[in-house]
Amino acid sequence: MLSTAGLRERRGDYGVDAPLTGLLPPGAAGLAFTLLAAFFGRRGQPTAAKLALAASLPASLTFGIYLHTTRRGKFLVWAEILERLELRGDEQVLDLGCGRGAVTAMVAKVVPRGKVVGLDLWRTEDQSGNSPEVTEANLRAEGVVDRCELRTGDMLNVPVADGSFDLVVSSLAIHNIDERDVRHHERRLHAIDEAVRVLKPGGRLAIADLLWTRRYAHRLRELGMQDVHQKSLGWRFWYAPGLGAGLVLARKPA
Ligand SMILES: C[S@@+](CC[C@H](N)C(=O)[O-])C[C@H]1O[C@@H](n2cnc3c(N)ncnc32)[C@H](O)[C@@H]1O
Repeated sequence: MLSTAGLRERRGDYGVDAPLTGLLPPGAAGLAFTLLAAFFGRRGQPTAAKLALAASLPASLTFGIYLHTTRRGKFLVWAEILERLELRGDEQVLDLGCGRGAVTAMVAKVVPRGKVVGLDLWRTEDQSGNSPEVTEANLRAEGVVDRCELRTGDMLNVPVADGSFDLVVSSLAIHNIDERDVRHHERRLHAIDEAVRVLKPGGRLAIADLLWTRRYAHRLRELGMQDVHQKSLGWRFWYAPGLGAGLVLARKPA
């Protein structure tokens, strides 16, 4: 089996997921209640201070969990996902919504004779400092830039021919499509259709995402994909207590 020893070493800087809508609110709320507790404490109002401190705890906990997941936890989980895929090392891989290249770089390390294409629209609201230049610098720092290609494009209309890839991965990206519209899933499911379209016969799919992975699995079964499995990825991929990512794996019929 291919060595996956380097998967847990990181030389790039991968920013923070959804900095303004995800990380900032619990951080600001935790800080505000902590300052309030200090203020009441100084004024000799211990009951009010205790209440403010108690109110700060859920927000501070959420902030800590979020920061851990975005800076460390998701990398550890993806290392395990990639190890379990037991790749040959010569695969053609597509990373949908690659962002600053967290998963692009990891998967490139396990396909030393292959190639990885990272596709993104580089939305900074979804990841801090998101840009192709930053991603390229990360891939260079990880020593994999020679086997990676970055493309600007929409995963709703993936600019590649049918049947091009042995593996399609996507980390925390598909839920960003129309994310404020929690009822209408058709466009998110269209990204699943696109992932299947660009897979070679026998190719595999690994998607880690928030909220909708059961729906993705259902769509994959409707599309005739085989070995469709869906599961929770556990606390290391939580973005708030109990709100974590799930994984969907599937294989296109040969
Ligand atoms: C939360 S970031 C995750 C980035 C990276 N996969 C990771 O795990 O670190 C979501 C990424 O999806 C990208 N994205 C959102 N909608 C997209 C779309 N329709 N097509 C391509 N990329 C998209 C964003 O620009 C962002 O880079």
